[in-house]
Amino acid sequence: MERLKVEHLSYSYVPGGKKVLKDITFRVGVGESLGIIGLNGSGKTTLSYCLCGIIPHYFKGVMAGRVLVNGKDTRKTPLSELASMIGIVLQDPNVQILMPTVEDDLAFALENYNVPREEIKKRLELVMELVGITAIKDENPNNLSGGEKQLVALASVLALDPSVIVFDESLSMLDELAAKRIIAVMQKLKQQGTTLVVIDHTAKGLEVYDKVFVLEEGRVIRRGPKEQLLQDKLFLNKHKIFF
Ligand SMILES: Nc1ncnc2c1ncn2[C@@H]1O[C@H](COP(=O)(O)OP(=O)(O)O)[C@@H](O)[C@H]1O
Ligand SMILES: [Mg+2]
Repeated sequence: MERLKVEHLSYSYVPGGKKVLKDITFRVGVGESLGIIGLNGSGKTTLSYCLCGIIPHYFKGVMAGRVLVNGKDTRKTPLSELASMIGIVLQDPNVQILMPTVEDDLAFALENYNVPREEIKKRLELVMELVGITAIKDENPNNLSGGEKQLVALASVLALDPSVIVFDESLSMLDELAAKRIIAVMQKLKQQGTTLVVIDHTAKGLEVYDKVFVLEEGRVIRRGPKEQLLQDKLFLNKHKIFF
C-alpha cells in the first residue's frame, strides 16, 4: 500500500492570495524515500506542513486536493492521530526540545498519549539505541551540540513509531559529521520499512533518496530517479541546483 499519497495539492496562506503550492501529485511507498529539492521560497516547508497535517489543521489558508497518510485523509484525521503515523523533524532542533533531560524529553509525547510507563521505558530504550544517544540520556538537551540535539529531536519523533517521517532541512544546520550520523539513522529506518521524505537543498542526504523531485515556485518541475537528475548538468545549472 502507498504510505503517502498526494493528489492535486494546492495551497495559499490567504484566500485569494498567491498559490504557494500548485497542483502537486505524488506517491511514496513502504520503505521508499523521496528527496525534495528546491530553492528558498519554493514551498518546501509548506509542503511538509501539508504532509503531516499542520496544514489544514493549524494554518487556515485555502487547501485544494488531498493528502492521504496510510490511506487516511489528513483533512478528516485529527492532528493527534496523524502524529502517530507521520512525524516531522524540523531544521532547528531547539524548537522541538522541551524537557530538562534527554530521556524526559523523549517520554513527554508518549506520556501525553497515555502510553503506560513500562511501555514508554521499553520504547525509549529501543529508540535511543537506534539513534545512538543512550549515553547522553541524562544530559540537559540545551547543553548538547547541534548534531546531538537533532538526534534527540529525531528520537522524539521515532518514539511515536510513525510509518512516515518528513525531514524539513534537518541536515542544513549540521556539520558534516553530525549530518552523517542522521543519514546513517535514515538508512536504518529505510531498512525497517519506514517511508522517508527528505527535504534539502544540499547533497548531504543524497545517498538515501530513491527518487528526487525538484520544486520551483510551488510546482514539481522535475521528477525521477536521482541518477537521471545528477547526469543532467544543463538542468542543474539552469535551476541553480548544486551538489
Ligand atoms: N505563514 C505564512 N504566511 C504567508 N505566506 C507564507 C507563510 N509561510 C511561508 N509563506 C510564503 O510561502 C512561500 C513558500 O515558503 P516556504 O514553504 O517556507 O518555502 P521553502 O521552505 O522552500 O523556503 C514563500 O513565498 C513564503 O513567503
Ligand atoms: Mg523551508
